[in-house]
Amino acid sequence: MISKQLQELGKKRIAPYPCEGFLLGGGNEEADVLFVGEAPGRDELQTHKPFTGRAGANLNGFLKEAGINREDIYITSVVRSRPYKHDVKSSKKPIEERGNRTPTQKEIIAHAPLLDEMINQLDPKLIVTLGAIALKRLVGPGLNLQDVHGKPFCTRLLQLPSLESSKLVRGERQQHVFPTFHPASVFYNPTLATTITNDMRQLRAVLDSLHEQG
Ligand code: URA
Repeated sequence: MISKQLQELGKKRIAPYPCEGFLLGGGNEEADVLFVGEAPGRDELQTHKPFTGRAGANLNGFLKEAGINREDIYITSVVRSRPYKHDVKSSKKPIEERGNRTPTQKEIIAHAPLLDEMINQLDPKLIVTLGAIALKRLVGPGLNLQDVHGKPFCTRLLQLPSLESSKLVRGERQQHVFPTFHPASVFYNPTLATTITNDMRQLRAVLDSLHEQG
């Protein structure tokens, strides 16, 4: 779905940063729901499929809650390579043994053309953002996930206006967005499991009403 040319560009743009591997998204290329995570981890680099590690097991459970089959959706992430830790202590270890970290804004910008293109091609009815990074990338920094999770809204998405640009701007595309927490957040805050489960029940209702509208 993402052309070879754009994949190569993505690899080139992320090369200056401490990130390893490259993973395309995965799922149904005709889906009307797109899930957007943060970045792959080591498990995903090995399986070449998004959300196949511990966070993926959580995601599968939450999808079940919403009555969603993974085969019916498309899943991608803000950054397609694994950002690894590069502090002094971590630098002593081989890259594959270093922990994951949150992508920086520069890394997010490096892979912004890939996510923009994916959204344009898939043209989803609904984008489910998993975690604060995906929400900030697509909607902007002004929203607090604690306030907006589990509630759909329509907005103009942020996108990268040109390959030379280092700043995301609001494009023309009007998009229904449904924010929820990242499935890995449960590891740090187990009470979020109930929150995400409730969000998934809301998501089911949103999908039913979108399908009724045709
Ligand atoms: N977190 C993500 O955002 N994506 C994955 O594929 C795995 C973990």
